[in-house]
Amino acid sequence: MAGQRGLGAPPVETRVLPGTSPASIAVAAAALRAGELVAFPTETVYGLGADAVDARAVARVFAAKERPRFDPLIVHVADVDEVARYAIEEDAADPRVATLAARFWPGPLTLVLRKRDTVPGIVTAGLPTVALRIPAHPVALALIRAAEVPIAAPSANRFGRVSPTRAEHVVRQLAGRVRIVLDGGPCRVGVESTVLLLADGDAVLLRPGGLPVESIEEAIGPVRRHANVDAGAAALSPGRQASHYAPGAPLAIVDPWPGPGPGLGLGLAAAAGERVGLLAADAAGRAAAEAAGGPFAAVEVLSARGDPTEAAASLFDALHRLDAAGLDRIVVQPVAEDGLGRAIMDRLRRAARP
Ligand code: TXA
Ligand code: MG
Repeated sequence: MAGQRGLGAPPVETRVLPGTSPASIAVAAAALRAGELVAFPTETVYGLGADAVDARAVARVFAAKERPRFDPLIVHVADVDEVARYAIEEDAADPRVATLAARFWPGPLTLVLRKRDTVPGIVTAGLPTVALRIPAHPVALALIRAAEVPIAAPSANRFGRVSPTRAEHVVRQLAGRVRIVLDGGPCRVGVESTVLLLADGDAVLLRPGGLPVESIEEAIGPVRRHANVDAGAAALSPGRQASHYAPGAPLAIVDPWPGPGPGLGLGLAAAAGERVGLLAADAAGRAAAEAAGGPFAAVEVLSARGDPTEAAASLFDALHRLDAAGLDRIVVQPVAEDGLGRAIMDRLRRAARP
């Protein structure tokens, strides 16, 4: 299905440019800044990059990969000073960060630290932490510096497929879905980076990778091993594995959602004094909910015009705002379960789990 982007978005023309040319870097940097996707080489595997502080651009990454659920993305930076922009001060100042950065950055090590609000929720899939890495590849570093934005990037493969270690692997899987592929030749390391969570004096291996954990232990002492990433994340935020991101108030997906005019609207009416939050998929869904039920103490609309990319981009931030609104319960309009809608519904169902 090369050339098909799915999700109603027209296919883009994919250009493969030589990564060593400054002109190509400038073109790719401009594309990133415009919210488009650029695949680029790192020493581990090729990444599918988007401006990490542009939530809508990041949503396009999930659409292009056809990920059925959102997974947190690594934020690639060019300089260790940038850690303090995206991680909280306490974690950025952790002496282990300086030690590991001095020894292994640029390189195949990703550090997971508690995030600042500068990182949109979709990048971290609603987690309170952000994964940061300085890649050891001149093309990647030149791109980040030229774009002057951090780059959120998973491996540049379609969901469930093999990670790409050559530009042609990326083209084979993502032609029509990525604006530019910077060709930097074959990747030197060929496996993804090692992912390490640093929190409260603890060090937890979330994913073995290109940097042996033994090398990390030589630098900072013992590292705990975890079977999977969710379990590691749960160590930082207990209960996260089961429900991933769940607001404090109970959340219910209302299905069927009322249509225009008088409808069913089961559970949409607020009892006297009850603070009910509304998470609508689109403007029409909001209007129908307000006609069928309410009043709502807080309202979030994922995308007024029902655009799946925009909806995905705003999902986690909307949940955070609803969480902060002191609600008794939250009612949620389901979205169509195709394309990015599958990832959105996966997260909403997890959030709805008691
Ligand atoms: O080498 C690499 O790491 C490549 C290149 C492109 O940098 N990237 C890569 O990204 O492998 P991806 O998305 O395929 O894998 C990222 C891994 C996943 O296992 C994800 O769950 C984990 O990092 N991760 C990202 N953010 C996290 C967070 N806040 N907490 C826990 N795990 C996180
Ligand atoms: Mg991957």
